[in-house]
Amino acid sequence: MTERISIVPRPARVEGRNGWFELKPSSRVLCAGPGAEAVAELLAAYLRPATGYELPVSQGEQRQPGDVVLVAQGEPAPDDAGFVPEAYACDVGEMVTLEAESAAGLARAVQALRQLFPAEVYASEVQRVEWRIPCARIEDSPRFRWRGLHLDVARHFFSVEQVCRFIELLAMHRYNICHLHLTDDQGWRIEIRKYPRLTEIGSTRAGTIIGHHRARPRQIDHQPYGGYFTQDDIRTMVDFASRRHVTLVPEIDMPGHMQAAIAAYPELGNTDQTIEPRCHWGISQHVLNVEPGTVRFMQDVLDEVMTLFPGRFIHVGGDEAPKHQWSESDRAQQRMAELGLKSEDELQSWFITQMDEHVQSRGRRLIGWDEILEGGLAPGAAVMSWRGEKGGIAAAQQGHDVVMAPGHHVYFDHHQAEPTAEEPAGIGGLSTTEHVYAYEPVPAELADGQAHHVLGAQGQLWTEYIPTVRQLDYMTYPRACALAEVLWRQPGEKRYADFLERLGEHRQRLAVLGVRAHPRP
Ligand code: ACM
Repeated sequence: MTERISIVPRPARVEGRNGWFELKPSSRVLCAGPGAEAVAELLAAYLRPATGYELPVSQGEQRQPGDVVLVAQGEPAPDDAGFVPEAYACDVGEMVTLEAESAAGLARAVQALRQLFPAEVYASEVQRVEWRIPCARIEDSPRFRWRGLHLDVARHFFSVEQVCRFIELLAMHRYNICHLHLTDDQGWRIEIRKYPRLTEIGSTRAGTIIGHHRARPRQIDHQPYGGYFTQDDIRTMVDFASRRHVTLVPEIDMPGHMQAAIAAYPELGNTDQTIEPRCHWGISQHVLNVEPGTVRFMQDVLDEVMTLFPGRFIHVGGDEAPKHQWSESDRAQQRMAELGLKSEDELQSWFITQMDEHVQSRGRRLIGWDEILEGGLAPGAAVMSWRGEKGGIAAAQQGHDVVMAPGHHVYFDHHQAEPTAEEPAGIGGLSTTEHVYAYEPVPAELADGQAHHVLGAQGQLWTEYIPTVRQLDYMTYPRACALAEVLWRQPGEKRYADFLERLGEHRQRLAVLGVRAHPRP
């Protein structure tokens, strides 16, 4: 019977049993325990469109065959990284019983349960299908706490509905983190009430480069391109994610990748040049200056961001900040001298420390790309290792928490097969699903006492060459299925051949959802 069970990522323990459970028009969703009702409502909302059943949700009624019961055993306090235990059990017999230590665990159980039904369960209209699932017992918990996908909404903008769809799909794979890259040289995409020009000016660029960034001569399409999220939009997405027990991690990238902000507020920059949001890709030389007013400005921005995003971690970027303007600027050199700093790297470190202290003073934790290690890093700050694993290893050895996001394995803007002629331009690189599946997030260099600092890993969707949802799906899937399994399963339990077999069935689910995944493998 177990061969019918093809959940992605594969749960830790699956025991097939004889017989079937059938969801019926009379089935109900019953719940008990803290936070269980909201998850029960989510499950009912998932199942209603395709089944056409009413599936009323209620607490503590007499259970009967055909019901689905959700029990949250408690409301565990989050750990210092903001995570709660997600272990759950799913028992399918005459009834389905989902039981978990926390409501977050129930949310994972719901996603596993959905995958037990025929793929048509993912349809948005009533399907003529018997809603039978094989009797089984699943006992499950994830290997890593941070199971993330990142989405760059700055290079290309995605609407609230499109981001919610992205979140829905990652939640389906039992990811729990969606990192939103909200600002960059090419566009500022979040309303900040105190500084309205960030979106009035910074959210629209005059055009977008045509073709690959390295192509010459460089051509711009001269079509104004813009978009941003209002604070209400952000609240809508945060609410959508939190109902799925997914945390949105906001990124305000500084002190580099700030050309759009400097275009809006030139006093943040280092030069008298008049600049606009950037129309092509690559790294801008325009970085923030290090004046007290600029530090305050960015702390004000983070204050509004922290009001909107309830999660523990606030991402401040810190990557790819060229130091040329600071070397050339008398004011920056004077600030360095005033602060007793010996290098521009130390100046960047000082800047990030100002943000770290601010974020910590509000009970949150800072995370940034691995450049934030250069010049020293405050305790409590976490590092996202993207330039390979070196930064992550060094950070964990120094006692910092780490999220592994190395380009060579989990940059999903890289090709996943040798591109065919008709395929749109991509940033380059090659990272196949098999390569992603083989990824081990805990580097061998870490001693036993350091490995726990690896919170998990994350796949990156940089969108220079991803202008549409269709292309986003194509680049994300099926690689995100493979990474989900890397993050969920214990080392030594992964089997690529077994994954491929399940992926075959899983592709039907994705197809019902309208996801045009890459055909390989
Ligand atoms: C990055 O890819 N610049 C973090």
